[in-house]
Amino acid sequence: MTQIKDLEYKVQELLNLLEAFKQLNSNIEIDEVFQNILLQMVQVIGAEAGTLWVVNSDKQNVEAVAAYGPTSSAILNIKLAKKEGIVGKVIETGQAELIENVAEHADWANRVDVSSGFVTKSMITVPLKVKGTVLGALQLLNKKTVAFFSEQDITLALALASQSALALHNSQMYDELYRMFLSMIRTLAKVLDARDPYTAGHSERVAKYSLWIAKKLGMAGGASDELYKAALLHDIGKIGIPDDILRKPSGLTKIEYETIKQHTIIGADILSNMEPKSALVHAIQTARSHHERLDGTGYPDQLKGEEIPWFARIVGVADAFDAMTTARSYSKGMSFKDGAAELLRCRNILFDANIVDAFVAILEECSYQVDKYEAGNGESNFYGSV
Ligand SMILES: [Fe+2]
Repeated sequence: MTQIKDLEYKVQELLNLLEAFKQLNSNIEIDEVFQNILLQMVQVIGAEAGTLWVVNSDKQNVEAVAAYGPTSSAILNIKLAKKEGIVGKVIETGQAELIENVAEHADWANRVDVSSGFVTKSMITVPLKVKGTVLGALQLLNKKTVAFFSEQDITLALALASQSALALHNSQMYDELYRMFLSMIRTLAKVLDARDPYTAGHSERVAKYSLWIAKKLGMAGGASDELYKAALLHDIGKIGIPDDILRKPSGLTKIEYETIKQHTIIGADILSNMEPKSALVHAIQTARSHHERLDGTGYPDQLKGEEIPWFARIVGVADAFDAMTTARSYSKGMSFKDGAAELLRCRNILFDANIVDAFVAILEECSYQVDKYEAGNGESNFYGSV
């Protein structure tokens, strides 16, 4: 009877595990998924602790991406050299290791225990392998209830590790593609800005200001990534505006001005034809609506107040500020302080008050020396959340 109960318990645990794997398709926050998988594995196999090690993209180090156990937070900060310890050996050979008495093992690198304070007695370490390539290793420490891990534990761990390896492989491919996608967007923005020497760097600056505002307003990482892309691409429609109109320093005729205004519609149209569509929803809205103004005097749709998409309101403020403070052939541009005063003057009339307040607070914090603010608030956050 007890055996049947045990079996029922194991089946339930395996079902939980399967549930964790299902998340892989819908959740790209891979660290969280790994943590969940590791927790289930530790419970199913009955270990005191476990660590999931992944080979870094530079292939020189192995890093703990998930850890479970009494000293897990200390372990997460540890990096191993490529061939260090039993993890290094398993990654190099691609063969699982079962060790009954860790302290007596020649390959044991005890510095992980020394740094974390954990005492390892027995362990199994299995490789995370996809198509013959070892991407990392899964390590389970100190078998509960009995002294040692068994061969069956290895078999089960290997089966589960192959699922984790696939998830890791997919996530790494996703990251690589995303980075390519992002570099393409940045290149596109640079090409666009290069058409007019007076707008050089405009898209990058607007994206940077927008990110600062987002951070100040407490926007979550994923949303800021979307905002950054949208801001980089906000003026992409200018590709469709003839050079002689785009570069005309001043004195635009009514028709020429109407032509320039078309860049919002052209931009949204260009982005609507790009793939993946789901990645560009905010960029499309922002390209179309970044010239809309709170009082309905903007273009192209004369949206008012909250009808204007949130990202477009943020980019609208960043864009207006950069336009005011950048030198043109016909003017040297306002100082950052005057730019801030102008935003405040139009607060709640043209621009969202919360956004203006957040941006002006940033400008005041750095005493209008934008480079100074930049040093402590670079774009590193953005890349960290990819
Ligand atoms: Fe624009």
